[in-house]
Amino acid sequence: MIMSNPDRKLQKMVIDGVEIDYTPGETIYQIADRSGKHIPTLCNDPRLEPFGGCRLCVVEVDGSSNPVASCTTKATPGMVVRTNTDCLEEYRRVLLELLVSENREIDVDTLRGYASQEFAELVDRYDARSGRFVGVRSGRSRTDDDNPFILRDYDLCISCYRCVRVCAEREGDYAISVMNRGFRTQITTEFEGLLADSACTFCGQCIQTCPTGALADRKAISAAELQGAVEKTRTVCPYCGVGCSVDILTKGDTIVGVHPAMDGPANLGALCVKGQFAFDFVQHQDRLSAPLVRGEDGELHETDWDTALDRAAAGFSDVVANHGRHSVYAVASGRAPNEAAYILQKFMRAGWGTNHIDNCSRA
Ligand code: SF4
Ligand code: SF4
Ligand code: FES
Repeated sequence: MIMSNPDRKLQKMVIDGVEIDYTPGETIYQIADRSGKHIPTLCNDPRLEPFGGCRLCVVEVDGSSNPVASCTTKATPGMVVRTNTDCLEEYRRVLLELLVSENREIDVDTLRGYASQEFAELVDRYDARSGRFVGVRSGRSRTDDDNPFILRDYDLCISCYRCVRVCAEREGDYAISVMNRGFRTQITTEFEGLLADSACTFCGQCIQTCPTGALADRKAISAAELQGAVEKTRTVCPYCGVGCSVDILTKGDTIVGVHPAMDGPANLGALCVKGQFAFDFVQHQDRLSAPLVRGEDGELHETDWDTALDRAAAGFSDVVANHGRHSVYAVASGRAPNEAAYILQKFMRAGWGTNHIDNCSRA
């Protein structure tokens, strides 16, 4: 018999005058978000544990003398919440003005990363470029970190720690951390070294969650000068059988970058270094686009598939005839589906009589 958990019984609260059901444990932000209320956030990434750092998501709660962060405050039965009073909007605007005063640049290229426009969009929404405050610039860009993938332009950092949290919580890598406090806050690696000398796997998760573009996709921004609008095409990463969903970024016929699909059922925004950065092979000049066979002259020549397969079959037969059935070996591609891997092992075991079969995903 299935028993209902009385603690999980739906409760009621009020947001902006509307009574809403919620499940105990939900935060005010989660309930408001699924009810279509657009509370602004900067340190929030729905894939990460609530953090409560930026204070942009504050709301008024009856009985509370100060606004509370909606992303970290859990709803309680009968709670009455207001999300968009004049006072809250002014509070948010001042917070954004202060953040603007700390950064070198607000408007960054969309190619920097998936979330790179979040800060600029909020600054515009709240008309926060007043220049009323002159802040000390916080964060020191690591121009010495010349790795090929990640630009560490911390002059644009607002210390939301989304990069540090995604690296720890989603990637389990703990490659980056926070050093110092206040204006001297700095995102860093152990011993302040380069990413290549740290535990970083270059998965790019930190880039894609950064709301200011302080962390940026170096390969993508190198295409900033290319003419044309950036288009996104949803597809599946070609590298292995996990099937991560990605959005391929193109300008005209040129692939310029990859965004992880935050709603991809297999990856929920996660990618590895290959899926994130190794897209060049698609348009590489050395990529084979037709089968080749070696001719009498010792050179490779383009041919049709039947000719190429006949040549391969003859080569296999010769080797087995001369050196025995265990002289052949097959490695299945990690990019192939299960069905193709199954057929390859059948081909080796039943066809050639050897168990010499492996898969590159095991490496
Ligand atoms: S690329 Fe991945 S592993 Fe490296 S710092 Fe960023 S999140 Fe961490
Ligand atoms: S680098 Fe980006 S994600 Fe990391 S703390 Fe700074 S603004 Fe946030
Ligand atoms: S989103 Fe709630 S404090 Fe930043």
